[in-house]
Amino acid sequence: MYFSYDKLINEADFCNSENEKKALFDYIQSGQNVKIFGPRNFGKTSLIKNIVSKKWESQNLDNRVVVYMDFYSIESMDQLSQELTFSFSKALAQKKSLFSKGFDILKSLKNIRPTWEPSLSGDSLGELSLKSEKNEPILSPKVIFENMDLLQQQNRFEFLVILDEFQEIKKIPRAEAILRGVLQDLKSSIPVVILGSKQHILNDIFNKPRAPFYSWGNSIEIGFIEYEKYHEYIMERFKFKGVAISLDVSIYLQNKMNRIPESINRLCDYILKVKQNQNKTIKKTDVDNILKDFISQSRSVYEEIYSRYNANARKVLIAFANFESVKEVTGKEFLARLSDLSKTGVSAIFKKLLDDSTLSYFINSVGEKEYSITDPFLKEFLKQYKIL
Ligand SMILES: Nc1ncnc2c1ncn2[C@@H]1O[C@H](COP(=O)(O)OP(=O)(O)OP(=O)(O)O)[C@@H](O)[C@H]1O
Ligand SMILES: [Mg+2]
Repeated sequence: MYFSYDKLINEADFCNSENEKKALFDYIQSGQNVKIFGPRNFGKTSLIKNIVSKKWESQNLDNRVVVYMDFYSIESMDQLSQELTFSFSKALAQKKSLFSKGFDILKSLKNIRPTWEPSLSGDSLGELSLKSEKNEPILSPKVIFENMDLLQQQNRFEFLVILDEFQEIKKIPRAEAILRGVLQDLKSSIPVVILGSKQHILNDIFNKPRAPFYSWGNSIEIGFIEYEKYHEYIMERFKFKGVAISLDVSIYLQNKMNRIPESINRLCDYILKVKQNQNKTIKKTDVDNILKDFISQSRSVYEEIYSRYNANARKVLIAFANFESVKEVTGKEFLARLSDLSKTGVSAIFKKLLDDSTLSYFINSVGEKEYSITDPFLKEFLKQYKIL
């Protein structure tokens, strides 16, 4: 038992989320669409890809097909089609039933030319490739979804479609409208799950009245994990290595990491590296010192991240590091820290930093938005090395 970060996690390493897991599963089971909201690094992809969809598929392994597609780095309609074609054929190719009964299933596909090459070594099911009528190795989303629909109506397969990093669709003109149209035309109930890592762009996609995906699907919110729950999670893993921590200090640590699970795990992993087998109880000062030490050890990493911002963006970042959080970016107090930048200049930089997720917001107890630096380590780095 240890702390994982930088990768998708499995159920055993997933803290809490029983309610979200159940709600998500129930929606999928009843063929409903879902959008998952939640800040960066809160386990959204792990939850759907590694936990819920696997459970759904395992209940009928031969007939249930999970088509997972990542929009990350997709910049044109062609790339989108290509990626979806790839995801679709990859998902199908894993199903043994596809290859039984003389390829009956493949023959029933419409507007698709399937070819299959047996594997030479015999240790996999072989290579499936799906081509268009014009013999191109790329199918339109329309053709792909129509065929899923067909296969599902014929009771050959049940599909679940997962579209991750969906905000990237904004980069492709008309793609939202095209995809929405295709999903709208589905006759069978194929559940589609949409998620992504940039919440404010996803908000534009789903909450703007004239947008194609306006009020599409049910929502599941992934939010902060209760302090006590995460404390138990931390304590379990600490105990394993002879380290103890009180609830009070654990809450302090969680807050210092902006309550982001991945950042908490990263710091806790480092704490274990430094303190394991010392029969130690971690105090608040230990948390502070170990965090400082971590930053100094990884300074070059953060210098590199910092170097990617231009001079004005760096000034805005430093101003953000000075405050724990900021409500009004164009407010007097904040602008006073940036006297050599114009108000419109600050606004433009702010928007850009929000777009690339350097900054993010949370809703405070009275319902207002508060903005802060997303990565608590970047914030610490700025405090440690860039603020005089
Ligand atoms: N519930 C959780 N329990 C333990 N660790 C978690 C949990 N949720 C997230 N994590 C941590 O977050 C990391 C990232 O998880 P994942 O990629 O699934 O999140 P995400 O929300 O999809 O991120 P992104 O916003 O970047 O797409 C994991 O490696 C793990 O360290
Ligand atoms: Mg993700």
